[in-house]
Amino acid sequence: MELSTRRLLLREFRASDHAAVHTFASDTEVTHYTDWGPNSPSDTTTFLTEVTQDATSTPRHRFALAVVNREHNALIGSIELRVVSTSHQRAEIGYVLHRHSWGKGYASEAAITLLHFGFDELGLHKISATCDPNNAASTRVLTKIGMRLEGHLREHLHLRGRWRDRLVYAALSDNHPAQDTPR
Ligand SMILES: CC(C)(COP(=O)(O)OP(=O)(O)OC[C@H]1O[C@@H](n2cnc3c(N)ncnc32)[C@H](O)[C@@H]1OP(=O)(O)O)[C@@H](O)C(=O)NCCC(=O)NCCS
Repeated sequence: MELSTRRLLLREFRASDHAAVHTFASDTEVTHYTDWGPNSPSDTTTFLTEVTQDATSTPRHRFALAVVNREHNALIGSIELRVVSTSHQRAEIGYVLHRHSWGKGYASEAAITLLHFGFDELGLHKISATCDPNNAASTRVLTKIGMRLEGHLREHLHLRGRWRDRLVYAALSDNHPAQDTPR
């Protein structure tokens, strides 16, 4: 599957993406707030193996896509929508970009497109995301794409030796701006 935005292509991962993925996934600044990483080369191999397998499962629950800058045909990140409950039509999204691509609106552009896909193509009712309260860029992305803060989970994850809080953001299909925004 492929999704196109104004400046980006969201496409399936390939084994040959290893070097490009590993560049950002092994960067401690990039993974500072993530619940994974920094990746070893074998972590990145495992990620690519899993996502390419998940892409062929039926029904598909995990849509992990490479974020490609169309102008330079360069893989700059990863974005994912994971259906966590089919009966409740609910999914979660997450995203990560190479540091050199931060601050250009790419994450918001990719995430709004994935929300459209989840609501329009998969018929989901609710899409949520969690992030570290100190991750200002990510909380801003979630707000910009029309998600609302639903909760603050205290000491929710034990990461790299300490407890971390998580904010929960979500959008509903029937009152989300993605429904009105032209792609
Ligand atoms: C989070 C991430 C994907 C954002 O990507 P991005 O392409 O830079 O995001 P966008 O450009 O679409 O939007 C970022 C917004 O945050 C704002 N922002 C960035 N850093 C900020 C800071 N320290 N304080 C306040 N706002 C900040 C930007 O100004 C922008 O808002 P604006 O459009 O109103 O000016 C990127 O920083 C990243 O990959 N981080 C590491 C991985 C990560 O944390 N993933 C999310 C896990 S929940």
